[in-house]
Amino acid sequence: MKFKIGLIRGDGIGPEIVNEAKKVLDSVSGKYGHSFEYEDILMGGCSIDVYGVPLTDEAIEAARASDAVLMGSIGGNTSTSPWYKLPPEKRPEAGLLKIRKALGLFANLRPSKLYKELSSACPLRKEAAEKGFDMLIMRELTGGLYFGERYTKETDGVRTAVDTLSYNEDEIRRIAIKAFEVAGKRRKKVTSIDKANVLDSSRLWRAVTEEVAKDYPDIALEHMLVDNAAMQLVKEPAQFDVILTENMFGDILSDEAAEITGSIGMLPSASLNETRFGLYEPSGGSAPDIAGQNIANPIATILSASMMLRYSFDLTEEADRVDNAVQAVLSKGIRTGDIWSEGCERVSTSEMGDAVCEEI
Ligand code: IPM
Ligand code: MG
Repeated sequence: MKFKIGLIRGDGIGPEIVNEAKKVLDSVSGKYGHSFEYEDILMGGCSIDVYGVPLTDEAIEAARASDAVLMGSIGGNTSTSPWYKLPPEKRPEAGLLKIRKALGLFANLRPSKLYKELSSACPLRKEAAEKGFDMLIMRELTGGLYFGERYTKETDGVRTAVDTLSYNEDEIRRIAIKAFEVAGKRRKKVTSIDKANVLDSSRLWRAVTEEVAKDYPDIALEHMLVDNAAMQLVKEPAQFDVILTENMFGDILSDEAAEITGSIGMLPSASLNETRFGLYEPSGGSAPDIAGQNIANPIATILSASMMLRYSFDLTEEADRVDNAVQAVLSKGIRTGDIWSEGCERVSTSEMGDAVCEEI
């Protein structure tokens, strides 16, 4: 089959990790006789350097014209990079928020699982680490505080800043449906996370989620308050299958869920809209401190490419093949520095990509 893939290499380690994922995609297309055509799209600091803005309209159109977009990471060092002297709407991150909104990417899937081989890197208590965990955070991505009205004003010499958290029932319903659909293919449990003891938006979230649950009688729904969820994630992560939550809570909890796996360099993500289109990116950031050294872990990006094969191209066998190749490489003890431990072979970014390709 033929697919057009937009590549947002981005900043920091972005170009290096995207290279490796592209290598893996090319191995897949070679093996299965597909044809993947790539188009580079500028976003983030690299776009600011060329165009003065983090995302141009042309870049959005190029993304829209692709079957899917694979992204590395964007942004730089927030205290030293000149990009952060710009007003907020011109900074690298604004490009990411803009593309999410422009393409209607409301569903952000962030799987987080503990690989048996990496359990020694897990910072949790031994009992929790030994049980392992395999969860998926379904984060709402185009609403809530991120996109509500915001302003800063000054009255009588006192500055006030306002951000608005608003959700309508349609926004809640569509993301809840995605969570239940995904849970149906997993362990059939949805934990919806909110702050319904305080927030109106959370009370509506809970009510709509319960309405949606009626259409999925074989899936268990439970509600959990966000503060408790933050605690349960470190106490007993094995209890979670699909976590459904709003934008800001999802941002925070997904970093926590990433950290307990031992390395954020292992976690892929997908941002989807109502069509088959998706933007796929590692959960980690641009890590400017290690950029250009060929030491970053490309696995999260490789697994993001696998999610692209699965969710946008419906190439399940090929996606399984990539996931199994990563698993095989880990079983052989091949590791980049972030996940290295005594007795393992330490490899570079590109050697890790080669090792995965070899398994394919
Ligand atoms: C993420 C990031 C972004 C977010 C930033 C870079 C705007 O933290 O994808 O989780 O907050 O959504
Ligand atoms: Mg985040």
